[in-house]
Formats: sequence, structure tokens, C-alpha cells
Amino acid sequence: MTAPQHFCLTTPIYYVNDVPHIGHAYTTLACDVLARYLRGRGAEVFFLTGTDEHGQKVEKAAQAKGETPLELADRVVKRFQSLWEKLNIDYTDFIRTSQERHKHAVQEIFRTIQARGDIYLGEYEDWYCTPCETFWTETQLMDGNCPDCGRPTEKLKEASYFFRMSKYQEQLLAHIEANPDFIQPKSRRNEILSFVREGLRDLSISRTSFSWGIPVPGDEKHVIYVWFDALTNYISALGYPGDDNGNFEKFWPCDVHVIGKDILRFHTVYWPTFLMAAGIPLPKKVFAHGWWTVEGQKMSKSLANVVEPNMLIDKYGVDAIRYFLLREVPFGLDGDFSHAALVHRINSDLANDLGNLVSRSTAMLNKYFGGTLPASGKDTDLETILQGRFTSTIVQVDAQMADLAFNKALQSIWELVGAANKYIDETSPWALAKDPARVERLATVMYTLIESVRLIGILVTPFMPDTGTKIAALLGQEQPGALAWGGLSSGTVITKAEPLFPRIETE
Ligand code: MSP
Repeated sequence: MTAPQHFCLTTPIYYVNDVPHIGHAYTTLACDVLARYLRGRGAEVFFLTGTDEHGQKVEKAAQAKGETPLELADRVVKRFQSLWEKLNIDYTDFIRTSQERHKHAVQEIFRTIQARGDIYLGEYEDWYCTPCETFWTETQLMDGNCPDCGRPTEKLKEASYFFRMSKYQEQLLAHIEANPDFIQPKSRRNEILSFVREGLRDLSISRTSFSWGIPVPGDEKHVIYVWFDALTNYISALGYPGDDNGNFEKFWPCDVHVIGKDILRFHTVYWPTFLMAAGIPLPKKVFAHGWWTVEGQKMSKSLANVVEPNMLIDKYGVDAIRYFLLREVPFGLDGDFSHAALVHRINSDLANDLGNLVSRSTAMLNKYFGGTLPASGKDTDLETILQGRFTSTIVQVDAQMADLAFNKALQSIWELVGAANKYIDETSPWALAKDPARVERLATVMYTLIESVRLIGILVTPFMPDTGTKIAALLGQEQPGALAWGGLSSGTVITKAEPLFPRIETE
């Protein structure tokens, strides 16, 4: 990817009626890795995350706990923020939908669409569960009963504002067809194309049955529908309709919304049509990743198998978790989380392949050259081939990152780790060290190895920031150096590495 000057990317905003689990961590982590990669290539990045705090569910959860919805949100939002800190997530902004700046933007976009004639007052009719105070659509019902509590529902009507979504069907279809990259992966794009071709209905975008939300401007009995409210976070955080810092002008349209597959329709049908109606450009891309199961089962509170990221980080280390989540499963497909697979990855890819490369290389340099990097002598074919692999893989990783193909990028980087380990075996530095006449050859081999370690360190940094920093420090690099062969100067002092990833013993 030719490094863009500006890049904006977003995670979904997380509901505060649930505490963060591995599924939430996954989306946020993927965005962090892409953001770090692009920053490393010189782009100015706006990386947005946050929390979705309004709606009936939060209102009820708060009631049940005897607190106000905002008290509940204040409490849960800290859980998200502290997890992001622990997971080493370097976001630019954290938006909460309870913030004033957000309310302002939501009411503004509502007013704009209304003024353009695409919001009208009508009646919303659906199946209502009185004890739960919730409307359900026909298809959500379980044998005619409430899917939450199982009690009977009744058909009820309430006044509601509607968005003329039907009007935008053709325009949306034309947009998806003209922009093959707008919805990714491709299978998701096809799913949405057939959904839109079946026809779009107008959408109810206000409720009167609860009050924890943003009031409809000029008709305060109504609160704005949570998805209309939540989706707007992507522009409210940038200062829509425009503010002094110029972020909206600079970063909108956003480059990619990263989401899970379950919320695709909201992002590729509702959100684009709201934007069309408001006369705002559409985001460039929506990428939907797959879902994690745990040891083969759906993650759920009732199965008590929810994977808690804090615990995993404490046990295995933050970089191992970051690596595993993005290496194990192609981004876009579903995947299964298992402790055995995690331990296997740590032991083989991290402790064995990467860890050994770094410790062997730095230990040999200390042993043979007292820790000072010698100048490289004349290259043989072995060096030329290895250098060529680095140069072509750097280009390949760039393309893979542009496609959000994180697992492929890691695979490519690990091919380099493998090639560097193989180079050690092919050149046998320990044999060269025995022959004083071969010191120049040994210098070339050691320079080549340490330079390989440096480049691998830079390549792994977005995925494993702490490991990247450790490797750079071992090689005496204060600034992230250039991602091109030959950056190390002779004379650099190289420290012998402690094991980067201790092996995990299994029974
Ligand atoms: N609040 C809405 C999003 C509004 S965006 C304008 C929401 N929140 S959520 O907290 O329920 O989910 C947030 C994200 O977590 C979604 O992208 C969802 O796909 C992801 N995941 C939740 N469980 C997951 C797995 N088991 N596996 C992978 N991702 C999962 O939806």
C-alpha cells in the first residue's frame, strides 16, 4: 500500500451491558495493529473506539442494580478502557454516546435528514412484551412468545419517526456495485447485495417506550433509535458537522469500519443510507470479521465459557495473545479459541522460531565479536538470496496489510524468521569461528543475521509492540529504523537477549 497521508479507522462501539470478552478484544486489536502499521509507514492515523451506552437494555440493567444508566455506563466503560490499556491499544479517541459532543452530532444529522424530507412521523406496530417493555419483530418471537422471558406478547402500536430508507435502495445498490471493495470480504458483499435487492423498507428510528437515549429534536417524548444514535459515533467523534480542529474535514470519509459479521447490515445498509440522506460521503470500506467460538462452542454467559482477556494476558503475556488472535484465523472467517492451540503457537512460533533466532543471533555476536557489530564483508549467493527475500516480503506484507489479511502477513513474516534460522544452519557460524582465516566471512554472516533480526523486529512491532521494542533495544536502536535492508551500522553495540518467550510446559 502506498502509505496514505491520512487514515481513519474505527471499531464498533461496545455495549456497556456486557463486560469485555475476547470477541471485543479481537476487533479492537485488529484495528490497533493496522493503525500501528500505518503510523510506522508515516501516515497520520485517526483510530476511533468507544462505547454504545443508550437503550432499553442498559436502562433495565441499571434499574436492576439500583443505579442510573449513566452510573452503570461509567462503571463498565472503565472495564473497557483498562482492558485496552492492558492490551496495549493505542487509540486516538474514545467516544461515549452519553457525551454531549455525540448528542449534538446525532441531533444535527437527524435534523438535517428531517429538513431534507426523509424523516416523517408514523406509527410503529410490532409484538410487544409488557414485562420486558420490548418490541419484537415477528421473526424474533419464539412460538409467538417473547424470546427473552418466554411470556406472551401482544401486537401494539406506538408513534414513531421513520426514515425513508426505501427511497435509497437503488442508490445504495449502485454504490455497492460500483465499489467492489466497499463491503469485504466478498461473501459478505454478496449477502448484502441480495438483501438490498429484495427491497428496503422504511425504518422506525424513534421510540417512546423508554427514555435512556437522545431526544428527537423538537419532540422530546421520543428518543432516537439506538442504531441511529450509535452509528453516528463515527462522525460525532470527528467533530461533525465540523469544528475547529478540522478532523471531520481531514479524516472523513473514514477509510475502514472494522466490525463483526453480526452487525454488517447496520453498517452497510442503514448507515450508508442515513449518510446519503444527510448528504455526507460514505465510508470507503466496511470489513466484517468472523466470530470466535471457544473449544468448539458458542461463547455464552449461560455456558460460562466466556474467555476473559485480562486473565489470558496475565497468564500468557500480552504479545502472545495479540499474536495468537491474529495468526490463528484468517480475518473474515470464524475461528475457534482453544488453550491447546494457543500454547502450541506460543511454543512453536514464538519461543522456538522467533525467540531462538533472536537469542542465538545476539549470543553469537557477543561470543564472536564481543557484542560490537562488525562491518559486513563480501556477500555470497546465500546473503543475496536472503536479502532478496526480505525485500520482496516487505512489499508482500504491505499488500497483505492493505487487505487486512493479518494472518497472511504474519505467515509471510514467519517465513523470514524461518529463512533466517535456516541461514544460521547453512552458514554454521560456530565452524567459521574456529578458523581465524575466516573472520571476514564470519563478520558477513553475523551482520546479515543481526540485520535480519532488526527487520523482523520492525515487521512484528505492530502485532507485538513490546517485543518490537525489546528487539530494537537489544540492537541499540532508539528510533524505528528504515524498513529496508542495510540499516544497521557497524560498530553498533548489541546486547545478548534473554529469552523473549519462555516455553509453556504442558502436561
Ligand atoms: N453496540 C453495537 C455496535 C455499534 S457500532 C455503531 C454492538 N456491540 S457489541 O458489544 O455487542 O459487539 C461489538 C463487536 O464485538 C461486534 O463487532 C461483534 O461482532 C463483536 N463480537 C462479539 N462477540 C464476538 C465473538 N464471539 N467473536 C468475534 N467477535 C464478536 O454490537
